[in-house]
Amino acid sequence: MRKKIVAGNWKMNNSLNKGIELALEINELARRIDSHKAIIILAPPFIHLSDVSHLVDRDIVHVAAQNVSDQPKGAYTGEVSAAMIHSTGTEYCIVGHSERRKYYHEDDATLNRKVNLLLSNNLTPIFCIGEELEQRQSGNHFSVVENQLKNGLFSLNIADFAKVVLAYEPVWAIGTGLTASPEQAQEMHAFIRQLVEKQYGKDIAEATSILYGGSCKASNAGELFRQPDVDGGLIGGASLEAKEFMDIVQSF
Ligand code: PGA
Repeated sequence: MRKKIVAGNWKMNNSLNKGIELALEINELARRIDSHKAIIILAPPFIHLSDVSHLVDRDIVHVAAQNVSDQPKGAYTGEVSAAMIHSTGTEYCIVGHSERRKYYHEDDATLNRKVNLLLSNNLTPIFCIGEELEQRQSGNHFSVVENQLKNGLFSLNIADFAKVVLAYEPVWAIGTGLTASPEQAQEMHAFIRQLVEKQYGKDIAEATSILYGGSCKASNAGELFRQPDVDGGLIGGASLEAKEFMDIVQSF
């Protein structure tokens, strides 16, 4: 059985104190539920990582970074390396979020370097893929997602690929309130799983968790998560309020 995951991407929100407060609130709510339902991951900004990872119960709440440098160490002012992230107790890292691709011009080759650095530092990549609205409207959404996967990830060997979590996030659904319909999400998730199967075989494809992201909230998570190829969510806006976020976890 593949892992069910709900990950909260806080993006550039919350002061350190507010972040700690939110993490502790989520931790408290998580203690009260059956924690075997889903893996709960919080992805706060870099400066929160160390505090949050040390304050939560790490067997029920896990921590992710939102980004990582594509270089291992050295004179790269302002960058944070995979080894540094790992040293805070963080276990996961989001890579290739559409906001990074778009605003910071991160291309497939850069993302591939990041994924390799994460894996060699024992961090689990949460690799994001997804098409823009015009690409869907022109019928290119499948080929866009296929290229992102092939160029960003499919050079990994099978053992490394098996460690990666995927997140399908249609760009037109992120922060817009326009959620993909359960059918649209299922169709793309099934397509992604089939690409993984072609490249790495059925066992790996069946074991790969594919999360949905894009205006996912407590009111729509249930029907999205009921789709056979949707293994959870990467949640932006709705992860900034503890009860709303935990209601999403509870929709499994
Ligand atoms: P959203 O963001 O839930 O606010 O749409 C999701 C994401 O960007 O990961």
